[in-house]
Amino acid sequence: MYKSAGCGEVGLDQVGQRVTLAGWVNRRRNHGRLVFIDLRDRSGVVQVVFNPELAPEPHAVAEQVRPEWVIKVEGAVSERPPEAQNPDIPSGSVEVVAGEAQVLNPSRTPPFYVNEESDAEEPLRLRYRYLDLRRPRMQEILTLRHRVVKHIRDFLDQRGFLEIETPILLKSTPEGARDFLVPSRLQRGNFYALPQSPQQLKQLLMVAGVERYFQIARCFRDEDLRADRQPEFTQLDLEMSFVDEKDVLDLTEELYTTMVRAVAPEKKLTSPFPRLAYDDVVESYGTDKPDLRFGMKIGDVTDLALKTDFRVFHQVVKGGGRVRGFSVAGRGEMSNRELRDLEGLARRHGARGLSHVRMGPNRALEELTEEDLQFAQGLRMTPEVAAEMARRLAGGPGDLFLLLAGLDREINPPLSALRNEMGDQLGLADPDALAFAFVQDFPLFEWHEESGRWESSHHPFTSPAEEFVDLVYSGNLDATSRPGPGGVDMGGIKSRAYDLVCNGSELASGSIRVHRRDLQERIFQVLGYTAEDVQERFSHLLEAFEFGAPPHGGIAPGIDRLVAILAGVPSIRDVIAFPKTQSGSDLLFGAPSPVGEAQLQELGLGLVR
Ligand code: AMO
Repeated sequence: MYKSAGCGEVGLDQVGQRVTLAGWVNRRRNHGRLVFIDLRDRSGVVQVVFNPELAPEPHAVAEQVRPEWVIKVEGAVSERPPEAQNPDIPSGSVEVVAGEAQVLNPSRTPPFYVNEESDAEEPLRLRYRYLDLRRPRMQEILTLRHRVVKHIRDFLDQRGFLEIETPILLKSTPEGARDFLVPSRLQRGNFYALPQSPQQLKQLLMVAGVERYFQIARCFRDEDLRADRQPEFTQLDLEMSFVDEKDVLDLTEELYTTMVRAVAPEKKLTSPFPRLAYDDVVESYGTDKPDLRFGMKIGDVTDLALKTDFRVFHQVVKGGGRVRGFSVAGRGEMSNRELRDLEGLARRHGARGLSHVRMGPNRALEELTEEDLQFAQGLRMTPEVAAEMARRLAGGPGDLFLLLAGLDREINPPLSALRNEMGDQLGLADPDALAFAFVQDFPLFEWHEESGRWESSHHPFTSPAEEFVDLVYSGNLDATSRPGPGGVDMGGIKSRAYDLVCNGSELASGSIRVHRRDLQERIFQVLGYTAEDVQERFSHLLEAFEFGAPPHGGIAPGIDRLVAILAGVPSIRDVIAFPKTQSGSDLLFGAPSPVGEAQLQELGLGLVR
């Protein structure tokens, strides 16, 4: 037997008993002739004392061990003297007096310390991920992730969902990223694509009469990576038949609230989750995934901007733009240097500049004078106009006002970035709060400047909102006609898509789907897919819709992002056991890597160098 208890489980109730423990040497200290070893396993750490008088052989073993050696120890549990107790750990009141000890395996000197918060660089941690994961903090995160997934499974099982696996080797399933391809050996020259999500499969399962499906599904997307994006990641993918938006959102909300209470009870949760309209959210926060832990809402001050003689404002308004901004409480004395930094941030997010008004703290709004106001270069405002702007932006004396002028799509990203930055600087976002909200009524299409066309804002299987179905069928819609005056406003067509957001991050997306062939075909046509494209890529789905497809809808919460938020870590790499780097490498295995000529030949592939 290797173990009769876990190291962290040994406590006062075992005093006097013999235990057998096995684990890793966390730390070794010599105190005179006594040797103390903190022995660690997944359950925690316990102190083992080796006394040469009582047990010379184990003492000799203890003398030679180093951190991360694996040892087995047998001994009696004894209470530590009061002054030697460590109240910080469960096993801190006791120690194990070693009677026997054995080295199970020595260890090389580890490349970084496992036994304390490591400041090792991430590449080194990823190269030796199995050591990194030994750290208690990482074990906590692995445990948290396990409990999240377990909660999901139990919750959905109780509500009649079936967990069903779908293929990994498949065909392109568009979710807006590039596909990873796998060459077929048996059918040379042909390729599988790894699914970007099981979207069409879950819809086919609804046609198959499953009614309630879920899967802890791995998704693969070849896209530019960021802190919250991995090339393979995990979704809770779910789909239901005979439902509308409310059914899906109610279920999702209950899943999340019960889960947070079960796995992270220390988090502060606002419930019920607000259900907000996309247009309102973007107007007030500049983004469809706002951090709702703080206010600082954005307001429109275009009419007031036109009461100044700042040329930029007048030009922008003439070009169809607006002037919008927000107030930052108590920062009316911000330095020029800090303002320049903020302007740099705004520019990095696409703004052409940043205007501001600094309002002195000394006089009430009704009594403002010129002296109380400091402006960005070129800008001037009468005290009356400034007071009106302050009221509009829920600010007042002593506050800073940040203003951006331009087309909405130009100024929304920098407005949102500035708001988040100020929230950060002022410490407004409570790290223990989870501000969930659903965003609904997304547009069906969004304009993509790079491709010069309208694309699905969610995916092409999303149903238009009821009142727009006729327009989608019969309107003169053209995916290549730029947004702007003239023609049908494609951006105004609403869909039945929804997102779940939390603390500034998109946690889940879903929609009520199209379930009729004619409407689905029409949407492909509007998006500019050719008949051959549709035939080649979607004929299976369209055909299935001819055999009594029920109305259906679903959602897909990203599990990595959820666990990262619950664990309070900045990157999803910290919640994935074996993640990839920003450039898509696995540093432990050294993937991706070249393959031999023979393997390529077998697949009928040649490399173009
Ligand atoms: P979507 O593409 O919005 O929707 O993805 C749903 C959720 O998955 C997570 N996510 C990611 N997490 C980590 N790395 C990535 N690269 C990544 N991409 C997405 C996010 C996101 O909210 N089939 C639809 C869902 C549906 O309509 O039911 C879909 O995949 O948390």
